[in-house]
Amino acid sequence: MSGKLWLSAPHMGGDELTLVQEAFASGWLSTVGPQLDAFEAELGDLAGAHCCALASGTAAIHLGLRLLGIGPGDEVLVPTLTFVASVNPLRYLAATPVFVDSERDTWNLDPDQVEHALRTRPKVKAIEVVHLYGQSAQLDPILALGERYGVPVFEDAAEALGTQYRGRQVGAFGHAGAFSFNGNKIITCTSGGALVSKNEALIREARNLAQQAREPGIAYEHSRLVYNYRLSNVLAAGGRGQLRVLEERVAQRRANAEYYEQAFADIPGIRRMPQHPEGRHTNWLSVFLLDEKTLGIGRDAVIEALFAANIDARPVWKPMHLQPLYSDAPRLTMHVSEDLFRRGICLPSSSFLRPTDLDRVVEVVRDLVVSR
Ligand SMILES: Cc1ncc(COP(=O)(O)O)c(C=O)c1O
Repeated sequence: MSGKLWLSAPHMGGDELTLVQEAFASGWLSTVGPQLDAFEAELGDLAGAHCCALASGTAAIHLGLRLLGIGPGDEVLVPTLTFVASVNPLRYLAATPVFVDSERDTWNLDPDQVEHALRTRPKVKAIEVVHLYGQSAQLDPILALGERYGVPVFEDAAEALGTQYRGRQVGAFGHAGAFSFNGNKIITCTSGGALVSKNEALIREARNLAQQAREPGIAYEHSRLVYNYRLSNVLAAGGRGQLRVLEERVAQRRANAEYYEQAFADIPGIRRMPQHPEGRHTNWLSVFLLDEKTLGIGRDAVIEALFAANIDARPVWKPMHLQPLYSDAPRLTMHVSEDLFRRGICLPSSSFLRPTDLDRVVEVVRDLVVSR
């Protein structure tokens, strides 16, 4: 059998190892050092914001929401169609997620539902946007609503490095935002994350809270319960190498999705995730909707056939309101996300895939659906 095609595997550029070796040679083998400073500066330039590099995207979301003042009893509007790490930090803070449905144009937070929730739920203290699979949410209406109702907007941009909204990198349009450098992301530090914000004081405080919040003075004095969340200088060095090839990775991931789209163009029941014109969708993952009635076969059967051919694939994220962990959380109506979950499939999307690899995927899908 041919080699395994993973969903989204790490893809090194060339400079990473040299930079990691520099980190070793410098002796900065901890959570401080020049590579970390440079990584934060370079990432900050990309996001047009100040930046604090952290151990994971989850840590960045947790810290960011805490710094926006979210605490026990607060409600936060968050899309149901996302990965669980968007939502767990709310529970860490003893806050309550209120699940909002997707809109059809971007599959992200529905501004009409956000408006309804802000009007009717006085406990809502923040809006958390997620830029799903590399596609920007509709930020303008959401930011305007945040302003009108006096609540901050946090951007979970874990899947959205390279994603643009109106020509600019997402992440710091709102009050703060998070990136992930987990191994399956468009670029990786092997693991890691970052918090970004235009508010310099917030990022300074993030560094403090990520390093146990030591009070000034010679003795180690602490008055707040906080975290050990910083990224290592060595991992930051690898991240710097990856940042240098980000634009190439975006082009390659977009090309993967276009390749699949062309290959399925004559099959009426397969449609690519929309590409909203206000943004640049990186297609971090190549995502398609399968229409079971037209194709005569459902999403799970397609995934099973791909597995049998040694090809990784997965459904679109299972919405949070359908998760046992969040079955009791408040939610609005959930028709769109449930439909996207039922029909959505993520295909192999790594940026090093060759046409022969993509053809393996196409062949399995075409054999299944065209023969019916
Ligand atoms: C939408 C979303 N939010 C948050 C995270 C968490 O990032 P990390 O794995 O770096 O903690 C991820 C990915 O893992 C994600 O896809």
